[in-house]
Amino acid sequence: MALLPILCFPDPRLHTVAKPVAAVDARIRALCADMIATMYDAKGIGLAATQVDVHERLIVIDVSEERDAPLVLINPELVWTSPTTHLNEEGCLSVPGVYDGVQRFDAVRVRALDGAGQSRLIEADGLLADCIQHEMDHLMGRVFVEYLSPLKRNRIKTKMLKAQREAER
Ligand code: NI
Repeated sequence: MALLPILCFPDPRLHTVAKPVAAVDARIRALCADMIATMYDAKGIGLAATQVDVHERLIVIDVSEERDAPLVLINPELVWTSPTTHLNEEGCLSVPGVYDGVQRFDAVRVRALDGAGQSRLIEADGLLADCIQHEMDHLMGRVFVEYLSPLKRNRIKTKMLKAQREAER
């Protein structure tokens, strides 16, 4: 297992639209294991392949208190969204230290393959639903700060670039 480097906003690679996973094979299973390890190491509740510079439709999530219930969603597709939404306070491993409100569906139904390549229908609400929507956005090349006002987004971009320059010194 390996820890993978996580791309940080405003890295342009975060805007890549992911392609479907062609087959859940040994390469994909190894990638899932690495992504789960990377998510736990970074103390995140979700990670999309896009964030580790792999542009295939794969996300890992663990919203459990005990951090022992990893979920793998391969080629996830939203099949239903609730008519109601709420404002969710979000952060992202690719935008460290930034938290802001994003409008999300209260509940979603997602069809995806699991880590064994089995088709699953996941009904989610609460934190899991918010996390699924956030991670699926990554697969479309969308980072949550893009929902914020241009003013806020630019302020975050400047802050991130400054932090990245300082880290390189
Ligand atoms: Ni994120």
